Amino acid sequence: MAEMKLLSEAAPSGIQERPPDPCVFVIFGASGDLTKRLLMPAIYNLACDGFLPHNFVIIGTAKTEMDHESFREQMSKDIRQFTTRDFNSQVWDEFVKNLYYITGSFDDPSMYQQLKQLLNEVDAKHNTEGNYLFYLAVPPIVFGLISSQLGIAGLTSEDKGWSRLIIEKPFGHDLESAVTLNRGLQEHWLEHQIWRIDHYLGKETVQNILAFRFANGIFEPLWNRHYVDHIQLTVAEKVGVEGRGNFYERSGVLRDMIQNHMLQMLAYVAMDSPSSFHADDIRNGKVAVLKAMHPMTPEEVIRNAVRGQYSGGTMDGNIVLGYREEPDVAKDSRTETFAAIKLYIDNWRWAGVPLYLRSGKRLPIRRTEIAIQFKRAPEVLFRDTPVERLEANQLLLHIQPDQGIELVFEAKVPGPTMQLQTVRMHFEYQEAFHAARGTGYETLLYDCMSGDPTLFSRSDLVETAWRVAQPILDVWSSLPPRDFPNYPAGTWGPKEASELIEPDGRGWRRL
Ligand code: BG6
Repeated sequence: MAEMKLLSEAAPSGIQERPPDPCVFVIFGASGDLTKRLLMPAIYNLACDGFLPHNFVIIGTAKTEMDHESFREQMSKDIRQFTTRDFNSQVWDEFVKNLYYITGSFDDPSMYQQLKQLLNEVDAKHNTEGNYLFYLAVPPIVFGLISSQLGIAGLTSEDKGWSRLIIEKPFGHDLESAVTLNRGLQEHWLEHQIWRIDHYLGKETVQNILAFRFANGIFEPLWNRHYVDHIQLTVAEKVGVEGRGNFYERSGVLRDMIQNHMLQMLAYVAMDSPSSFHADDIRNGKVAVLKAMHPMTPEEVIRNAVRGQYSGGTMDGNIVLGYREEPDVAKDSRTETFAAIKLYIDNWRWAGVPLYLRSGKRLPIRRTEIAIQFKRAPEVLFRDTPVERLEANQLLLHIQPDQGIELVFEAKVPGPTMQLQTVRMHFEYQEAFHAARGTGYETLLYDCMSGDPTLFSRSDLVETAWRVAQPILDVWSSLPPRDFPNYPAGTWGPKEASELIEPDGRGWRRL
């Protein structure tokens, strides 16, 4: 039952889950990292929990030469290495029979004809009813190519069943390319067929933000400028670029983390109550709050956005390379591996409440946390007591690796005099639910197969998120940084990050 919960939390309470339709899951890039590390383990977890349709087939495709049998063997090896739970050979042996593979190049139209033929055969053999899910686990450069080739081959047609396309991030490189990509996709696909995935929305703790806010009566009345002093959102990573220098050089943390994962989380934290938990009501709410973000002028970017790049340092007693020494990174790279920004939302609920966001690689710890800091209580009552200062209350949403919620408040220290101490009330997911560990992709894949787009981004959402990031990208590209690298690996970013928040009489949380 605990594992049932893992998924049922994705579906709004009161709405019945229905089993996903029979379908064929086609993976482009089936010999790559994403497939073996995340997609296959997630699908396997769904199989273990009985959440896959009875008639379910996977077709992998990539350039790497393999036939059906060698693909099955490779996946059987990989799953043992990357599964997030104990390996159950009974489930896997049943499942692996339905794996197929096509070797081919994404720019070769005959590959799509081969795929079409195999889909017909598989439909006839496994009763998959003409429902196809195409997952692009490939570099963004080929998103447009594959999606249009699928269209040309007639595989976007929904005459027999449904046809859906899942697109990974990064969705575009900037606003203009995101708009172009959307237009290109829409030449062959209808909007309801395009599923833009963001793996942060698969995290239970992120999904719980809305449940926490709107299923409880006590927090929402305080969730506004009258009671909230500011909000801090931190995504700290300990890792460096992990061999992805080539990709990261063209990205940087603003594009890699802030424009997508962090703005998605922020939208959940700041949106107004949707009129229902239906996909479009939630997605409209997210777009509305991102649209209300104050557009930064170039002067504001200079004041309110800070960037950094790590140099070599010591972490956990080991010497680590600086960013510029990583493979495939330019010796004079200007790519930011850290950013801190201050944003405002120009609406009735949040006017004047700063939102401080920071994210970086090679920071001292791995932690994602959202902190809502409330306004301080008036000190009048404590004037004639030994209490010198009242601390502000904080509500902490621990997203990962700790998963929980914490309320920080003041309590009286036992004894005859009025002394206060900051204490914490703590809820932990693991303690409360004992859910099996997953990859974070289970709910997203299940939702796509069962036709629930709530957690996927519509075209207007990704474009609106780019609109928030674009003024910063523009200023940063026109004014290259002069002082990179400016923080040693294993520290909390450049000193300018503190200078962004401290003049406001606030400080970054010490994590
Ligand atoms: C990816 C980024 O989207 O998210 C990576 O491209 C980053 O650079 C990763 O490391 C972080 O994901 P998570 O789930 O480990 O926080």
